[in-house]
Amino acid sequence: MAIHTILVTGANGQLGWELGQLAKSYPAFKFVLVDRSELDLSFPETFEKIIHSIAPDCIINTAAYTAVDKSETEKELAFTVNATAVQELARICKGLAIPFITYSTDYVFNGEAAHPYLCSTKMDPVNYYGSTKAAGESMAMEVNENTIIIRTSWVFSSHGNNFVKTMMRLMKERESLNIVADQKGRPTYAKDLAKATLQMIEAMNVGKTINGVYHFANTGETTWFDFAAKIKAIAGLTCALNPIETKDFPTPAKRPAYSVLDTSNIEQTLSISIPHWEDALSSCMKEINTN
Ligand SMILES: NC(=O)c1ccc[n+]([C@@H]2O[C@H](COP(=O)([O-])OP(=O)(O)OC[C@H]3O[C@@H](n4cnc5c(N)ncnc54)[C@H](OP(=O)(O)O)[C@@H]3O)[C@@H](O)[C@H]2O)c1
Repeated sequence: MAIHTILVTGANGQLGWELGQLAKSYPAFKFVLVDRSELDLSFPETFEKIIHSIAPDCIINTAAYTAVDKSETEKELAFTVNATAVQELARICKGLAIPFITYSTDYVFNGEAAHPYLCSTKMDPVNYYGSTKAAGESMAMEVNENTIIIRTSWVFSSHGNNFVKTMMRLMKERESLNIVADQKGRPTYAKDLAKATLQMIEAMNVGKTINGVYHFANTGETTWFDFAAKIKAIAGLTCALNPIETKDFPTPAKRPAYSVLDTSNIEQTLSISIPHWEDALSSCMKEINTN
């Protein structure tokens, strides 16, 4: 059966919002975007009734407990939203025989690798947020082997809270900033991830089998320091940036030192080439400045 009605959770998040923006360009689909007030992931027992009333052909779950540091102390809620709720959505999708797409994170890995993480690399999270996302992956797969998991990293958008918007603000307010320079990863423009997700659904609609784990991030790798330096250059700001080490910027949740994702699987499956993060950043900042 072709996918027509797509239920998107987390409508006010970066990715949920970008999917909402793209909806206009995909008239073949009917999008039902729900926010926390309409579908609260901390109450999995309420999902069945809500989902049956919408009768979607596919669910895209962008909602998540994403406060990495806060999750170290708000453990129960983080686990319910990122693991128990994801399993329940997967179970319901299996019952309805519809695709279920959910997102995970580079933080499921320990950061000790020297090469980009493959979809098949064993998960070994170093913080509680990563543990909840890893549990969500496993628990969803347990009840629905067709679950589609897209791991992503360092997400930014013109909407919501993210590193790009924080840096643009702080660089205007302060004369200098200390930025961690020893963590490596791949920034991801939520708009590009939203597009790839819809390309996945289009591929399924023409009979392609898609399931299991995929990685999506913009091309190229960087550090938070170099990411910030690029933001500064594009914005034409003068704030001094000082590179610092992770050990000099203690946070409640430990961060993996290296979390570069290998995206070849999704590129080959969908026959797409993913934009470089610097180009994606320029587009996003242009959008921020015109809003
Ligand atoms: N952001 C990143 O850097 C990053 C990195 C790796 C992976 N990911 C993953 O990518 C996916 C999309 O992330 P994102 O960047 O779009 O996250 P985001 O901007 O933080 O948005 C998350 C959304 O989830 C919603 N949410 C939180 N708790 C909820 C609940 N109990 N019930 C319903 N909705 C709830 C939030 O609602 P409110 O607006 O009401 O707070 C928010 O709109 C997530 O699975 C995330 O774990 C993100």
